[in-house]
Amino acid sequence: MMVHLTVNASLLNSTQSFQGAVYGIHSAGKVLPIVEWGLIFGPLLFHALFGVWIAKNAKLNTSHYKYVSNRRYSWQRWTGVIALVYLFLHILHLHGWFHFEPYLAVIQPMGFGQFKPYNAASTLMIAMNDFGGLVWPPIYLIGMLCCVYHLANGLWTAGITWGVWITPAAQERASKVALVFGLGLALVGTAAWWAAISGSAEDIARAKKTEDRMYDVGIRAGYVPLSHEKRTQPDEVAAEFEEEDEVVVYEAMMSDDAE
Ligand code: HEM
Repeated sequence: MMVHLTVNASLLNSTQSFQGAVYGIHSAGKVLPIVEWGLIFGPLLFHALFGVWIAKNAKLNTSHYKYVSNRRYSWQRWTGVIALVYLFLHILHLHGWFHFEPYLAVIQPMGFGQFKPYNAASTLMIAMNDFGGLVWPPIYLIGMLCCVYHLANGLWTAGITWGVWITPAAQERASKVALVFGLGLALVGTAAWWAAISGSAEDIARAKKTEDRMYDVGIRAGYVPLSHEKRTQPDEVAAEFEEEDEVVVYEAMMSDDAE
């Protein structure tokens, strides 16, 4: 989450910063789905299933005890439930969960699976603007803040469960560290949220131009593989490149023949 929100917040600096970071992530190439499922979706689903089981067995006692730690215990469960719903919707909205054609052909017209990694800024801003920009921004803000609380408070409770901070004084100190960490991450997350939702139609058009330029240079230099799936269609840059490339190959063949 720390890396993810920081990468997204880089959009506040510029389209180049954000697109550069997304190219970095996608440089994993064919290994990326393994990273996504092995290190992100898999552990997340495990945590979600385990979390639902914990939440079902939780003994909420805030009606008897009004101590802050009792409240934190129930908030941990509530934010966990909200984070679960949010993450399901968020990944469906941008990533789509799966990337095979017949499935994408069904979900994309419904407004899901909208993020195109090689048009990172423009497709993110467009996706946030669905339904007049009234639906996704509040869902993202609430979801993100719940995830941040769940992580920061969860680290604190994990430290207690694992016996890292045992005495009341140590728990108090750890609690302050968790608070500072949570506030810091909430700030980064809010910057990421604002960058994604605040783009005007002109910002989106400008971002698309920058992305096209970066893609053009990237495929010519050979550090970005040509991809139709990761680009907004129709893709003039790719079409032009492929056309030119054929001419280059043809010319090379002709010169070979001449020799
Ligand atoms: C300000 C709020 C956020 C924004 C703007 C945002 C943006 C994005 C973007 C652009 C993607 C890429 C989709 C793709 O890969 O196709 C993504 C994927 C994802 N996001 Fe977020 N995100 C936000 C908050 C969060 C939070 C709080 C979490 C909590 C863990 C989260 C978890 C994920 C996950 C698990 C993925 C899928 C990763 C993958 O594609 O491999 N996001 N998000």
